[in-house]
Amino acid sequence: MAPIVDLRSDTVTQPTEAMRRAMAAAVVGDDGYGEDPTVRALEERYAQLVGKEAALLVPSGVMANQIAIRVHTRPGDVVLAPRRSHVVLYELGASARNAGVQFGLLDDADGMVEVAAIAEQLKGTDYHQPTPTLLSLENTHMPASGAVWDLHRLAAVRQAARNLKVHLDGARLFNAAVASGHPASAFAAQADSVMSCLSKGLAAPMGSVLAGDRAFIEAAKVERKRLGGAMRQAGIIAAAGLLALETMVERLAEDHRRARRLAEAVADRFPEGGVDPGRISTNVIVVEVADDAALSAHLEAHGVRSGAIAPGQLRLVTHCDVDDAGIEQAMAAIAAFER
Ligand SMILES: Cc1ncc(COP(=O)(O)O)c(C=O)c1O
Repeated sequence: MAPIVDLRSDTVTQPTEAMRRAMAAAVVGDDGYGEDPTVRALEERYAQLVGKEAALLVPSGVMANQIAIRVHTRPGDVVLAPRRSHVVLYELGASARNAGVQFGLLDDADGMVEVAAIAEQLKGTDYHQPTPTLLSLENTHMPASGAVWDLHRLAAVRQAARNLKVHLDGARLFNAAVASGHPASAFAAQADSVMSCLSKGLAAPMGSVLAGDRAFIEAAKVERKRLGGAMRQAGIIAAAGLLALETMVERLAEDHRRARRLAEAVADRFPEGGVDPGRISTNVIVVEVADDAALSAHLEAHGVRSGAIAPGQLRLVTHCDVDDAGIEQAMAAIAAFER
């Protein structure tokens, strides 16, 4: 029987053998006292890659976003965000619960937001209305099939946000960097804080890194502690994270190539599904189908796992544990769907 091709998410990636060895051999200390040299090395490396003064290792991407929102806002503030972004739709209302903020939603059809939409949100504030203090953006934008921000548009949006702080959810920032040819720091330069996940396409078992200026990171440390995310001998995790940054970034191009190929089969079978293979630039494909449950069950029966991100929207994500044979298997399964 053909092996299972798991396209639900890039979070299913297994740590590499080199990661497992590095984790076993990691020099560690109590990070609560700032004494874990491997954690410090990871934080310094990430800060350098995104061009920020300092960085902080946290257990997950959600926690990185939540910490950033808590640092940048006060309860009652408005966070402007793309309407389908992770902080809005996929964190179980955490920003309301943890930071007491509400969202001002921005249209994000192509994964980016319009300057005019931000201007609109900022123009009407009088004393009755809550104050927007933060703009939270996502790059790549997952529900827009992993779309990469255009750098000029990002700079224009940053400018339109005037005195708001900008947070960049860069869970897949390195996918954006590899796909665009721009360094991660070029995107991060338009934000006050930025986070990236080590545990998605980069294949580390866990952990995300959050970066900003020193004052931001000092405040972030306090919020990490409050959320229960301060860790001890976390060098075990950081060792894998360092390898993720050093050895797993360039190869993301392979995942992107495979996603484009897969997108062709998806677009052929579902011409109304909103997938244009020419616009798939990273590792995520989101297809609109009337009966996502039927398609998902059909794929599962052919050894291919997919994930629903909303009713009628199925997601396929390529990653380092899916090879060309897996993509062929998925393409054949998609073509064979009969409804
Ligand atoms: C865009 C985006 N942001 C944040 C997260 C949260 O990361 P984690 O699952 O590590 O909490 C995800 C995870 O899927 C994501 O896709």
